[in-house]
Amino acid sequence: ELSPIDKAKFVAAKRAVDYVEDGMRVGLGTGSTAAWMVRCLGEMVRDDGLKIRGVPTSTRTAALAREVGIEVISLDEARWLDLTIDGADEFDGDLNLIKGGGGALLQEKIVATASDQMIVIADVGKEVESLGAFPLPIEVIPFGWQTTKALVEEMLISMDVLGRSVTLRMNGDTPFVTDEGNHILDLHLNRIGNARQLSMVLNQVPGVVENGLFIDICDVVIVGYGDGRVETRD
Ligand code: A5P
Repeated sequence: ELSPIDKAKFVAAKRAVDYVEDGMRVGLGTGSTAAWMVRCLGEMVRDDGLKIRGVPTSTRTAALAREVGIEVISLDEARWLDLTIDGADEFDGDLNLIKGGGGALLQEKIVATASDQMIVIADVGKEVESLGAFPLPIEVIPFGWQTTKALVEEMLISMDVLGRSVTLRMNGDTPFVTDEGNHILDLHLNRIGNARQLSMVLNQVPGVVENGLFIDICDVVIVGYGDGRVETRD
């Protein structure tokens, strides 16, 4: 028996795989919600003979996809994708997102951008009026990361969006390392206001590789509820 939160994630994932058709190249997201989707697709491959190729957005998802029998190809082999299904940490009424809670935002953004369509699956707890309560992750190059952090802080102060702090994400006693060998800074912000502008400005700072704001990338959000209801926002 699933907990309400897992049920919400599962029903959203289950609905999302309805969008997947034979022959598609599908971007496979990362996180606990996306993992349900990968398992559902694996079942469809095994039981219904669904023929797809998947492009994973993390080593974790790649391992799971192979385990459940999905043919895995690289983004360079696929080049363009029909559809990406991924989770999110927050989504707003314009279907803009914060992602990267799981640290996979860089590959996730590249894969989603290479897709004709991006579907986000989320439990209703991820829905927000305005983005930013969830700390915004940015991926930074390890070289000189403390300088990069100081530059980002300065920039956030000048935009009047810096809340509590900017923190280096840790994995126990050592900095967290992404699949691309980088670190993550989590930006604890006040109200973001202009997310589009913030996203552009962040990516101008030397050492910042990418940020977790997904603006105008997501086409549909499928929202799951703990009682099994599903709603679609588009
Ligand atoms: C991974 O980097 C994130 O972007 C995930 O999509 C996000 O953290 C959602 O994860 P859950 O589905 O586990 O909440």
